Amino acid sequence: MDWIAPLKIDFAVFKGKRILVTGHTGFKGSWLFKILEIAGAELDGFSLPPESNAHINSLKFESRIGPDQFGDIRNFDEIRSKVVDFDPQVVFHLAAQPLVRKSFVETRETFETNFMGGVNLLESLRDRNSLEALIFITSDKAYENVEWEWGYRENDQVGGIDPYSASKGAVEIAFASYARSIFNGRDIKMATTRAGNVIGGGDWSEDRIVPDCIRSVQNQRPVVLRNPNSTRPWQHVLEPLSGYLRLAEVMLKGGNVKSAYNFGPNLTAAHTVEEVVRGIFGVIGEGELQVERNSSNVHEANLLQLNCDRAKQDLSWQPRWGFERTIAETANWYKAYLENKGMNEITEHQIREYFKELN
Ligand SMILES: NC(=O)c1ccc[n+]([C@@H]2O[C@H](COP(=O)([O-])OP(=O)(O)OC[C@H]3O[C@@H](n4cnc5c(N)ncnc54)[C@H](O)[C@@H]3O)[C@@H](O)[C@H]2O)c1
Repeated sequence: MDWIAPLKIDFAVFKGKRILVTGHTGFKGSWLFKILEIAGAELDGFSLPPESNAHINSLKFESRIGPDQFGDIRNFDEIRSKVVDFDPQVVFHLAAQPLVRKSFVETRETFETNFMGGVNLLESLRDRNSLEALIFITSDKAYENVEWEWGYRENDQVGGIDPYSASKGAVEIAFASYARSIFNGRDIKMATTRAGNVIGGGDWSEDRIVPDCIRSVQNQRPVVLRNPNSTRPWQHVLEPLSGYLRLAEVMLKGGNVKSAYNFGPNLTAAHTVEEVVRGIFGVIGEGELQVERNSSNVHEANLLQLNCDRAKQDLSWQPRWGFERTIAETANWYKAYLENKGMNEITEHQIREYFKELN
């Protein structure tokens, strides 16, 4: 089945709320910012300035995306003054250095951003009386990968071999400490969320398969795959965002939530990298794939899947789009981009297709 009857999110809870999104200039943050603007939230952001081709720059907002929303989360004074000035009621924390390969080169920066940046945010929020809900995005890679086939559950051990994964595991531990000590007894709902392998329009990151495909079309060079049979549990960017929003809704309504939630596709949804590339090129109508097989690397060592029973049970959350729809929506976004269409309209259309309840 490729489509599941959606759970309706009550977007009215966000109307007029002061909501701070860190990482709003990034791939996931820009979609979230747009959704919250449609929902009528009073928004502010905190991120590094966006690259010129960033998704956020193609979106229209009532208020300007400008320098007062730019800062470095590694600098405590900068994030603290944003939090004090805006006094948010809800915070979605997405600011991070999110790339594994980069974390091997910019290792200290990765820990400073992902670990100390997270601590700086928590510390900035500790005396805020207006704060009602904190949704703190980490990653599926926060789990210690013990190479098993079934899905990781929220109580499984965190940790990581590469610096990115370790930084996300480490900030999970810091978060749990703040939640159980500093924020203990306060009327604040807070949880971490773990998702991964997100695809969708507006991602221009290095080292990710879909942007690599689009760049290969633009440069008229083949995209090279070394492990075309690697499988990943792909999901459209709107899927984890719907989880974060549903979690925030339940928090704002005073529901009981646990300290961490997984948001991933159904366990049957793992598809190969080659299927993704062929699917994207199929919709776009061009693009060349070159396979340079690495015969010594037949075993797929790092597949990591999430068990999402907790989100299903506590939040009645479930993914809405299957693999084919995910590929189609993603490829259609980039096709429109390559054809110089108005990307604000395309993004908003996809949001309203996904969240019918926003219409
Ligand atoms: N995209 C995925 O597949 C994926 C998977 C798992 C987890 N995540 C997590 O989701 C979040 C968003 O990821 P994304 O794919 O949108 O990444 P992205 O690189 O597109 O965006 C990152 C955002 O963080 C901001 N940022 C980075 N360093 C900062 C700093 N020092 N100070 C302030 N802001 C800073 C950037 O300006 C940007 O707005 C991250 O926490 C990431 O680890 C993403």
